[in-house]
Amino acid sequence: MLRLENLTRRFGDTVAVDGVSLEVPAGEFLTLLGPSGCGKTTTLRMIAGFEHPTSGRVVLGDRDVSTLPPQKRDVGMVFQNYALFPHLDVWENVAFGLKSRGDRRDTLGPKVERALALVEMAPYARRKVQALSGGQQQRVALARALAPEPPLLLLDEPLSNLDAALRERTRDELRALLKQLGMTAVFVTHDQEEAFALSDRVAVLNRGHLQQVGTPEALYASPVNAFVASFLGRANFFPATVDSVEGDRAAVRVGGARWTARLADDAPRAAGAPARVMVRPEALELAADGAEGALAGRVLDRRFAGAATFYRVAVDGGPEVLVQGRPHEADAGDVVRLALHGRAQPVAYAPEAA
Ligand SMILES: Nc1ncnc2c1ncn2[C@@H]1O[C@H](COP(=O)(O)OP(=O)(O)OP(=O)(O)O)[C@@H](O)[C@H]1O
Ligand SMILES: [Mg+2]
Repeated sequence: MLRLENLTRRFGDTVAVDGVSLEVPAGEFLTLLGPSGCGKTTTLRMIAGFEHPTSGRVVLGDRDVSTLPPQKRDVGMVFQNYALFPHLDVWENVAFGLKSRGDRRDTLGPKVERALALVEMAPYARRKVQALSGGQQQRVALARALAPEPPLLLLDEPLSNLDAALRERTRDELRALLKQLGMTAVFVTHDQEEAFALSDRVAVLNRGHLQQVGTPEALYASPVNAFVASFLGRANFFPATVDSVEGDRAAVRVGGARWTARLADDAPRAAGAPARVMVRPEALELAADGAEGALAGRVLDRRFAGAATFYRVAVDGGPEVLVQGRPHEADAGDVVRLALHGRAQPVAYAPEAA
């Protein structure tokens, strides 16, 4: 459906997008995830045709569209800054795309209403867009892009200004609608939880480089590097030593403990080599004193987060780590032991560059 081939965009000395290659099959919901300035918007704008690549190609279906203007690409886009028509009301803004492709009044009405209903803006159909809040404008922008049901929809942080409850509702309905219509979507966000909730696959970008593409589950469990690990949720890193390697797994020593870790591509494979091992907070537990293979540490503080409680623990002679547990398992100042959950899958990486 959509293929990016070695896509690159420079602005003067800045390389906003650096050699990104990616395929999005028809009907997939793919999210570009990465920190501010990593090139997400620039990538979307090149797919839509508002920005031209410095090098590389954008292929839609079997057409190279790299040099085609936006209106020749059959792509819908929700812009990060909404880009609504201020002199038109909500209804006319949403109808705009439908009219410009020739929909007649009797057929476009139901489509406009459906799009407005999706974003819970039907009661505001006759409001001027200047008289709307930021979040309401954002919802109108989303409805406007959805209404013509383009085969490919590009969404640049379309939910960023909505409150938590509305955001969750809208994202679930958006995913359901796109799946029902069989639309292909490239969604941009810097919110990992949103990316996980919405996407079939997630593509992680950092400084213009594509880091990793995969299902949310695969990325979370097996991040290719420390950047991806830390960007996708909370990650603890322990300095470690490789003991022995078998296939893609190694026995590693972490303090006095001996763990089995999966080896990332950049991990050292020689016995005795330094490495670092990543473990998620939910893969660690506070263990009984004297538990075998456990690490000793001291609780620095605890943070109640509703569904879980997070304990920040200073490991003796080691790093500060986050442990997910139950409320009131320990108090600040308590001496504790840390153990790995039975199902934990630590990942080993190259040691941190000095
Ligand atoms: N028109 C431009 N001229 C010069 N530099 C630009 C231009 N557009 C983007 N950049 C630069 O390219 C880089 C990527 O920008 P981009 O807008 O794609 O980031 P982003 O991932 O969308 O960030 P955010 O999450 O903050 O929206 C940034 O360093 C930005 O300053
Ligand atoms: Mg952006």
